[in-house]
Amino acid sequence: MIIKDIKNQFPIFKKYKDDNFLYLDSASTTLKHKFCISKLNQYNEEYSANIHRSVYPIAEKATNEFESTRFKVSKFINSKKEEVIFTKNTTEGINLVAYSWGLKNLTKNDTILITKMEHHSNIIPWQFVSKKTGCKLKYVPLNDDGSLDMVAYESMLTKDVKLVSIIHQSNVLGVINPISDMIIKARQNDSFILIDAAQSISHIKIDVQSLDCDFLVFSGHKMFGPTGVGVLYGKLNILNNMDPFLYGGQMIDQVSDLDSTWNDIPMRFEAGTPNIAEVIALGECIDFISNIGLNTINEHLNNITNSYLELLSRNTDINIYGKKLNRGPVISFNINGIHSYDFCQIMGQYNISLRSGNHCAQPLLNHFNTNSSSRISFHIYNEIDELNFFEDSLKKTIKLLS
Ligand code: ALA
Repeated sequence: MIIKDIKNQFPIFKKYKDDNFLYLDSASTTLKHKFCISKLNQYNEEYSANIHRSVYPIAEKATNEFESTRFKVSKFINSKKEEVIFTKNTTEGINLVAYSWGLKNLTKNDTILITKMEHHSNIIPWQFVSKKTGCKLKYVPLNDDGSLDMVAYESMLTKDVKLVSIIHQSNVLGVINPISDMIIKARQNDSFILIDAAQSISHIKIDVQSLDCDFLVFSGHKMFGPTGVGVLYGKLNILNNMDPFLYGGQMIDQVSDLDSTWNDIPMRFEAGTPNIAEVIALGECIDFISNIGLNTINEHLNNITNSYLELLSRNTDINIYGKKLNRGPVISFNINGIHSYDFCQIMGQYNISLRSGNHCAQPLLNHFNTNSSSRISFHIYNEIDELNFFEDSLKKTIKLLS
């Protein structure tokens, strides 16, 4: 795999080719692949009809392209086609489960188990369900290094735990949780299990059948695709017993003045006109990732991440959170005496894109007694060669702010 060739497939690099543009914020959103962009344009220019409603040629083409992405996603995660529901993003997928499954199935006798490293999108919906139903919300604690305390996980898996909802790869630490093992244990306890794969789906193979999770959620914009499209996978027998989340067109079967019946899965959960172009474009991203291969992508990301870890570790003023973790392509750190916001802003002046703040994970930052960190995250278009420019800018920024 030649990274320069891959980089050339991302138009944004052409725009900033003379500017030392270094993008290190892929955990926030990945850059957009050229096939994704051209597919979005193609829909809007050539067949911008609505889907699932009409039989004229461009409407049929739009419907076929939309459903072809559903098919590609199902092959990518090894599910049935109907088990793929298009949402707006990961957050909406979790909210869908919270409203349509949580409110109906949980009571004051039940517990939802999450972890201290969840993104707010996997915390707030469950706080809402807990307040509405009276069920308890508990957090699996972390070890000092930020890894999940698996001994605590096992002891907390008591009979009242009806749902375990966990992040696969932390968006802050990059730590990859042992979800296979966690699912096996949740199954033995008859708990349902939801996996937030937003950070992992673009570089780790996920097979929902061999994993045996009940729900899986992810976003298209973290896999080189457009914003505004996400995926909720759910087991068909569970989805069939869930009520709709949003009400309106296409999610119904029969409508009378005062009552209605619901459409089959997945249409029951796709009310109204969806983000058609974005869903269609997501299909291109799945092809792009599959053509390179998840193992190849992951190997590249490991090399890049290790190089940056080694560089940052050389400076004793830099505290890396969870330095020795088994991690994906994300590193969070703070520099003694320098606020992450100032650091990232000055790095931004050198055209290096980093994220600072709490990363929508306040309970996790609290674990490390901080409320903000700088974060670098990588993807397939990052090159080891960029490290020199990063190091140079890092030194200049630290000198300026010290
Ligand atoms: N979840 C995204 C991030 O970690 C937005 O930056």
